[in-house]
This record gives sequence, structure tokens and C-alpha cells, in this order.
Amino acid sequence: MKGAAMSVVALIGAQWGDEGKGHLVDLLASKARLVVRYGGGNNAGHTVDNHLGTFKLHLIPSGIFDPATVNVIGSGVVISPEALLLEIAELKSRGVNTSKLFISERAHVVMPYHVILDKLQEQDRGDGKIGTTGRGIGPAYADKMSRTGIRMADLLHEETLLNRLRGVLEEKNRLLTKLYGVKAISLHETYLRYLNFGHQLAEHITDTHPIIQRALAKDIPILLEGAQGGLLDVDHGTYPYVTSSPPGAAGACQGAGIGPTRIDSVIGVYKAYTTRVGEGPFPTEIDGPDADALRQMGTPWAEVGTTTGRLRRVGWFDGVMARYAAQINGVDTVAITKLDVLDGIETIKICTGYKLHDTMLEFPPATTAVLEQVEPVYEEVSGWMTSTVDIRRFQDLPEAAQAYVARICQLVGARLGIISVGPKRDQIIMASEVF
Ligand code: GDP
Ligand code: IMO
Ligand code: MG
Repeated sequence: MKGAAMSVVALIGAQWGDEGKGHLVDLLASKARLVVRYGGGNNAGHTVDNHLGTFKLHLIPSGIFDPATVNVIGSGVVISPEALLLEIAELKSRGVNTSKLFISERAHVVMPYHVILDKLQEQDRGDGKIGTTGRGIGPAYADKMSRTGIRMADLLHEETLLNRLRGVLEEKNRLLTKLYGVKAISLHETYLRYLNFGHQLAEHITDTHPIIQRALAKDIPILLEGAQGGLLDVDHGTYPYVTSSPPGAAGACQGAGIGPTRIDSVIGVYKAYTTRVGEGPFPTEIDGPDADALRQMGTPWAEVGTTTGRLRRVGWFDGVMARYAAQINGVDTVAITKLDVLDGIETIKICTGYKLHDTMLEFPPATTAVLEQVEPVYEEVSGWMTSTVDIRRFQDLPEAAQAYVARICQLVGARLGIISVGPKRDQIIMASEVF
């Protein structure tokens, strides 16, 4: 199965985020020699639970725990230097070696005005709020596209930083004071603060292009770590209830600087059910006792947002959305996480189609107003009502669980790769080789 032909694997969230990507990247990092986080910012929260403890990563690739693996924060990521420094400090204090962490000098910086504007824009949206993480992600990507962004390399160059910041702050301060009536941001203080962040991160900031190209040339196994999920994609997700970047396979190429012809495999990560944080349509959403069971309240891995601490909305597996995300991203391998969460549920529902009035829909409609009207068509299957947390081989899973997993793969339209049955590194069933 392995060989040079499988050396670049993109692992992407294929629902609305929090699918358990961190868990799987930590596991696969020992096989990959290079892990690249390619998009998003500290809106992401990736949980890793391994021999060193439980970690919540926001910007640092989840491959950081393998001492032999090189970890890159790619050009497509937007970086809050403050958040990144805190993360590095925490890892160091817990004995994790961060010397093989490289940050693309082309990655954009999340500035203080991005965070302020993110929050002010959300307030203005009132009932139409998106439910952003408030980390300034949308405004930072908007500035990148408007060509007013500040990049990591700029933090290392006094004159460039001062000049860029002077121009940008003039505009931002007009916006802050005149439109929103809030305090202006000081050029002098911001300049010094960000210059200092640059100094502190200097040993990590570099041109990551040669690192990635050398690895490609030598067929070194590369794992591209997705953040967010396909349904939060700015182009293909449930717009406007999306994030501001392309979190899928195309974003992996763009954000890492790897051509699409070099990607060998795309792993779509799916929870065995569905969750969503923030606002926006969610056809298979449920409440009541089944929802509480899916949330696993009271456990350390309850469905509470890793970044914002918000309660995640929960629902049944949505086969329509799942296949849609797989199609857009060329998912060829399915990873199903949190199968154990369904262990105690007597009757499990799977959404296999959407009904709109009297019409069956094959694909999710593009607009929120229509998507909110669809009625999910469910198939009901019996649960297995026994613990799967200690199972490590597919054939040892209860028959009903095997059938459930097979049905998900059939709906997605890709082969089974990995199942996870608990948050710990070894709570994994490998159904096929990944590298
Ligand atoms: P990510 O953003 O995709 O990396 O996912 P998060 O870390 O935000 O959320 C996933 C949550 O589920 C975390 O609390 C993980 O520790 C936990 N988790 C991951 N895999 C499993 C699993 O197979 N079973 C259970 N019960 N929890 C899991
Ligand atoms: P990981 O990588 C879940 C959601 C927010 C909100 C929308 C826009 O941990 O899977 P933003 O702050 O990005 O402008 O918010 O996107 N969102 C996530 N939901 N997991 C994430 O990341 C998310 N990153 C953003 O809740 O609905
Ligand atoms: Mg998360």
C-alpha cells in the first residue's frame, strides 16, 4: 500500500469543525516526517491526548509531539503572535520540544484591530450574528485579500513594519473612531509590541518553501493538517455562516504551497454524528436526551468548544452534507471519530436525503433560507449497546457498529481508513494504511 505514491496526505475536517483532527494528526505524525498546518488561525482548537498529557492546540501543528517530525505553520494561516507565543511557552513548560517548528514568513498576522473589528461586526449583526470565535480571523483574511495585511516577515523588519502599520492604522483608526466610536489604536505602542513579538519568534520565522519542496523532492511523507471543516468553507460552506478561509483540500495546496498534482490522498474526518458551534443551518440538529447523550456532558471530552468554551450543537450523521464535502475535497479515505459516543444509544438515525416540500434533494441547497426548510430523511439503525473503547481491530467491533461504519462510508463514497473509539492516542482502529 505504501511507497512514494502515498507521500502527501491531506487530513481535512469534513463537517463543521471539531471532528477530531488533532487526535488523528498526533497519531499519524510518527509516520509523517513533516506536518504542515495550512489554514485558519487560533479560531481552531485541536485536542491531543497522548503520553505527555492533554493539550489544546490552536496554531501549532498537532505533530509537535513527535520529536523527529518537522512542523510548519504555512502561508495560509493567519497568526496571532501573542497566542502563538503563549502556546509555545506552554508546550515548552510541559517538556515538549519546539525547536523543529517553522513559521512561514508569508503567513499573515492577526492584529489587535482585527480582533476588535471582529467583535464589533458581530455586535452589529444582531440576530444575524455568525457566532464567530472573536479571534479576528475574518478581518485578518479580509485585509490579506485587500492587500493591507501585515505578514510574519514584516515583524522582523523595523522599517517595513513601521511603514505598513502607519498606512493601515490610519484607515483602521478612522473606522474605529468615526464609524464605531471606539478608541483609536496607538501606532507607537503597536509597532513596539509587534516588533517585540517578531524578536521572540525570530528563530521560528523562515521561508518554508525550501523545507516543503525538499521534502516533496525526497518523497518524505507529508501530512497536511486541516483546521475547521468543509462545511465552514468560505466558497462551499453554509455561507455566510462560515469561516473566512478554504479549509479543504484546495486550501491545503494553497496554504502549504504544494501543487494539487502532488496530493496523493485526502482523508475526510467525520464524527460518527454531527456537531456545530456558532450559528447557521444544521438540518439534522437534535435536542432532548439523545442530544445530551451525544454531548457526553460531565466527561472531560464533552462537546464544549475547545477554543471558546461554548456548548456545541449536536445532531445525527448527515449523509447529504457528508457526501457534498467529500465531493468538493476529493476525499478518498474516511476517518470516523468518536464512534464510542454512540455506544449507549439504542436507536441511531442516519440522514440519507433531504426533502424540500415534495422533492427529494441530492445536494444541499446553497442558501440558508432554503436549507432551513429541508426535512432530513432518516434511516434508523439499532445501536450496539456495548463499549467499543477497548477495541482495536475492525473485525472485533460489534456487528451493528461495523454496519454503521460501512453505511457512513457508502454515503460518503470513499473507503474506510481510520476509526477512533476514544480521545487517547491508542484508541484507534486502523482499517487501511494511510502512508
Ligand atoms: P479538532 O478541532 O478537529 O481537532 O477537534 P477538537 O479537539 O476540537 O474536538 C474533538 C474532541 O473530541 C476533543 O475533546 C477530543 O479529545 C475528543 N475526541 C477525539 N477523538 C475521540 C474519540 O474517538 N472518542 C471520544 N470520546 N472523544 C474523542
Ligand atoms: P477546528 O479547527 C468549529 C466556526 C465558528 C463560527 C464560524 C466563523 O477546531 O475544527 P470564525 O471565528 O472562524 O470567523 O468563526 O466558524 N469555527 C469553528 N467551529 N471548529 C473550528 O475549528 C472552528 N473555527 C471556526 O464557531 O461558527
Ligand atoms: Mg476544534
